[in-house]
Order: sequence, then structure tokens, then C-alpha cells
Amino acid sequence: MYKVKIYGAGSIGNHLAYACRSKGWETVICDVDPEALRRTREDIYPARYGNWDPEIQLITPDKLPDKDVDLVIIGTPPDTHISLALSVLERNPPKALLIEKPLCTPSLEGAKELFDLAGSTGTFVCVGYNHTMTDNTRRAEEILAKNIIGTPISISARFREHWGGIFSAHPWLAGPQDTYLGFAARGGGASGEHSHAMNIWQHFAHLAGMGRIVEVSAMMDMVDDGVVKYDRVCFLNVRTEKGLVGDIAQDVITEPAEKILRVQGSEGFLEWYVNIDGGHDALRYSDGKGGVKEELIPKTRPDDFKGEINNIESILAGKTGADSPIALNKGLDTMMVVAAAHISHNCRKTVKINYQAGYGLDAIEVL
Ligand SMILES: NC(=O)c1ccc[n+]([C@@H]2O[C@H](COP(=O)([O-])OP(=O)(O)OC[C@H]3O[C@@H](n4cnc5c(N)ncnc54)[C@H](O)[C@@H]3O)[C@@H](O)[C@H]2O)c1
Repeated sequence: MYKVKIYGAGSIGNHLAYACRSKGWETVICDVDPEALRRTREDIYPARYGNWDPEIQLITPDKLPDKDVDLVIIGTPPDTHISLALSVLERNPPKALLIEKPLCTPSLEGAKELFDLAGSTGTFVCVGYNHTMTDNTRRAEEILAKNIIGTPISISARFREHWGGIFSAHPWLAGPQDTYLGFAARGGGASGEHSHAMNIWQHFAHLAGMGRIVEVSAMMDMVDDGVVKYDRVCFLNVRTEKGLVGDIAQDVITEPAEKILRVQGSEGFLEWYVNIDGGHDALRYSDGKGGVKEELIPKTRPDDFKGEINNIESILAGKTGADSPIALNKGLDTMMVVAAAHISHNCRKTVKINYQAGYGLDAIEVL
């Protein structure tokens, strides 16, 4: 039985605590806010999963025992991720460390330090882009591996979702001004919150062997009322190292939500859907000769995190590693695109990412 410590008793802390308890793992949740711990026990966890699990320990940081655990999960706001991760790795490195997305703020502050420290401790560090490991993604990978659609020519990804759903899951927040969500510089706004779209675009480009995103041209719609400052819409045109072009759209205004990726191939196409209806993800694809095939993949919200936790279980058992779709370098590559998008929008120019320069703003050049 693995031992897990989760920082943050919020929405994701509860999801991942449930996923860990479903594996029978010993789970401690730590939050700086005692009220968040109370909410977890009395509201969030029982409302989502039927009843509170008394095996879960709830604790404030001052009472947290400094004992060894196998897995640490950081499920706190994005602007706290790097400093917490660095202190975990410096003090008592676990076998695996899962940091929620987005990995950090668009300033990329601390990103290089984290990458270097992760390499020297031997801890397997990963970033919570869970959509790379769900059943619809695995099934899409099988279809692409059979070369049904021919050579991928272009990829489009859209995570466009009004954030009313997030606020109804956080009834104690009056609006974006009460949290990191209302501040792009803290990792909020559409670019940070829905960076799943950038990440899943990169995942499929990687599967197609087309390399990393090296050019970004972005346009955002910023909300700046003197209190909040965030992008409610973030559009990107991108090009990879090997010349694959495509587009990525993220927003916090679209209702009903749209979470789709489309790969256009030389022969046919593949479409990947999250939540096509209340109980399913889906795929649509064609080889360009016959008709369009459709597959509905039943799923619940807890299923969104099962593949991710299964992958971490394999990592803890020493069975998988560096090629994991949630490995730290993949999460950092996504952060580079978030940062590049902000620079491109601010300069109204295309920007280039030079990965040889390391994970910092120095690697982003305005063309
Ligand atoms: N992968 C996903 O599908 C998914 C889903 C939801 C949230 N997230 C991500 O998870 C992160 C948290 O989001 P959320 O909605 O759970 O936020 P939340 O506001 O519900 O919860 C965050 C909690 O962290 C606590 N906290 C802050 N600093 C802390 C510290 N130093 N130590 C311990 N606790 C601390 C806060 O008190 C709060 O209770 C964000 O980065 C978000 O993007 C990912």
C-alpha cells in the first residue's frame, strides 16, 4: 500500500484523494486553510462520492509529520506550485511528485530550477494533464497507430468552457477576483486554466512524430477592470519543429462547453471529444474511403483521473518512466507555450521557442 500526501483540499485535492483511496493507498490531505479541510470532510467529498472516508487524514501544515511518503501531490493554486515542489524535493524527496496544471505562472519563475532539481533527486516528477491518459486518448492512439487517417497534416484543439461550472464547484468563491482564476499572471485565465488544449495538441503532435511547438502566434481577449486581469479568450496558431501547423482555442466563456481535438490526415480524419454528453467521451474517424465511424466511451468524472493514477502506480512500481505523457518535461513544454502566447499577444508578433536555452523566458524570441 503506497503512502500519499496531498497539498490542497480543494476541488482537485478531493478528486485525487478519491482516486488514491480507490487504490487503497494511505492518504493525508494538508491545507493551510482549516475551513477547506472542514469543507472536504463535510461537503465536497461526501457530495461527490456518497460519504466521507474516515481513513483520510486531514491536517494543517504545522501538524504535518515529516515522514516518508511514496507520492506527493500538489493540488494548490498555480502560483504556489513551484515553491512547494522545490521544498518537497529539497527536504524529503518522494518516489513520485505530481504537480497540478498549469505547472507555474507565465513568468516561468523557478521552472528551470525545478527541472534541474528533479533530475538530481531521482524523484519522478509529473504534471496533471490527465486527458493524455483517458480511455478516449488511448483508443485514439490505437487508431492513429494503424495509420487509418494517413499522414497527419494539421491538428486543431479546443477547450472552450464557461467557468460557471468551476464556480458552482466552489460556492465559497464569489467570482474570479477571489482566486488565481481572475489573474493570468498567477496562472489563471483561459491560457492557464484550460491549458489542457495546448497539452493535448502537443500530445497528438508528439504521437505523429512532428516534434515540439517552436512558433506561436496568439491573440487574447483580456478582461482588465482594475481588479481582475485575465484572458477570457486565448487563440493560438502554432508550428512544430517538423513543420506541422495547427490551431488551439481556449476560453472561459463558451456554453455549452466544447472540448475537442481534430487531426486531419492525408487520407481521413480523427476527432476526439471530451464529454460529448453527460456520460461519454467519444471518437469519430474516417479513412476517407468508407463512412465515418463513431465510438462512444462511457465515463464518469472520477474516470478522468483513473488513467493518470494508474500511470503513477506503474511509475511507483518501477514499471514505466520517462516516456510518460505526464512527465515533467511535457508539462514544462506546455508552460513554454502558455508563456509564449502571452508574449506574442502583448507584442502582436509571432514568437519562437528555443528549447536549447532552457525553461525560461530567455528561450522565447520575438520574430
Ligand atoms: N487536472 C484537472 O482536471 C484539474 C481540475 C481542477 C483543478 N486543477 C488544478 O488544480 C489546482 C488547484 O485547483 P482547485 O480548483 O483545486 O483550487 P481550490 O481553490 O479549490 O483549492 C486549492 C487549495 O489549496 C490550498 N492551499 C493554498 N496554498 C497552500 C499551501 N501552501 N499548502 C497547502 N494548501 C494550500 C487552498 O487553501 C485551497 O483550499 C489548479 O492548478 C487547477 O488548475 C486541475
